[in-house]
Amino acid sequence: MIIVTGVKGQLGYDVVRELDRRGIACKGIDIDNLDITDREAVIEFIRRENPQAVIHCAAYTAVDKAEEDIEKCTAVNVGGTENLALACNEIGAEMMYFSTDYVFPGNGSAEYETGDEKGPEGVYGRTKLEGEYKVIENVPKHYIIRISWVFGINGNNFIKTMLRLSETRNELNVVCDQIGSPTYTADLAPLVCDMVLSGKYGIYHATNENFCSWADFAKAIFEKAGKAVKVNPIPSSEYPAKAKRPLNSRLSKRSLDEAGFKRLPTWESALERYLDELKSARK
Ligand SMILES: NC(=O)c1ccc[n+]([C@@H]2O[C@H](COP(=O)([O-])OP(=O)(O)OC[C@H]3O[C@@H](n4cnc5c(N)ncnc54)[C@H](OP(=O)(O)O)[C@@H]3O)[C@@H](O)[C@H]2O)c1
Repeated sequence: MIIVTGVKGQLGYDVVRELDRRGIACKGIDIDNLDITDREAVIEFIRRENPQAVIHCAAYTAVDKAEEDIEKCTAVNVGGTENLALACNEIGAEMMYFSTDYVFPGNGSAEYETGDEKGPEGVYGRTKLEGEYKVIENVPKHYIIRISWVFGINGNNFIKTMLRLSETRNELNVVCDQIGSPTYTADLAPLVCDMVLSGKYGIYHATNENFCSWADFAKAIFEKAGKAVKVNPIPSSEYPAKAKRPLNSRLSKRSLDEAGFKRLPTWESALERYLDELKSARK
């Protein structure tokens, strides 16, 4: 049996859906079942459930809010991850942890390899990196998957925000100097299920293929959704945000190739399928 944390979020929801589809026994949990910052409760829960693996999708993900909510962000992303790691280690379970492009400094234009030097700019990125270290230090059987610009049916994301804004705006300023890749949770979930229990432990990057800027992404969203919104590309310096974001979020997928895992489809294809998924969810 596999435990999936963060089932009420974007990724956890799709991971449980995919495990169910494959007939793999799992239990999805969220903060109302178990607050991962409560060490005793986590250890007791994992002992009782005795899973073969924990797929840890829960996190504090409000990047800007984290700049002022350092204590809570740290408690969830570092403390919560450490609690799960200690519990997994105690029962010999595997642990899968999701991290982010924000662990890198974002300089240059080359694709980041998994082992490249880290340098998170903000609180969220720092806590996610510390979470990686907690997993590595405590659980020998670990998978760390760095993802970026996540979107899924169950939660809020950039695409939903753009579609909402298109109802009232016919022009939008969108940042054009941050380059990365969107990650569709419905495309990531099959990889997660292929990887868990594979024994191919290690650090991976997994996003949809191809790179774009947020402005390119926004243009494609409006085009594919048939919305007449003009996108004005602007530099990050003109877009006020509490947390600084990396300009270069290109993640190399070499580690996936080397381990024999299939890369995800392109973000353009993912966007088309996501818009279809949104349409059918509204029916
Ligand atoms: N979203 C992105 O763009 C992005 C990018 C790179 C990496 N990631 C990583 O990918 C993973 C999945 O992200 P996501 O977008 O699916 O996240 P999400 O939609 O924000 O879901 C996270 C879930 O974790 C829950 N949670 C928060 N604090 C908790 C606690 N103390 N105990 C138990 N559950 C708690 C949240 O509940 P509440 O909503 O009630 O707080 C939420 O349901 C995370 O590790 C994230 O850091 C995300």
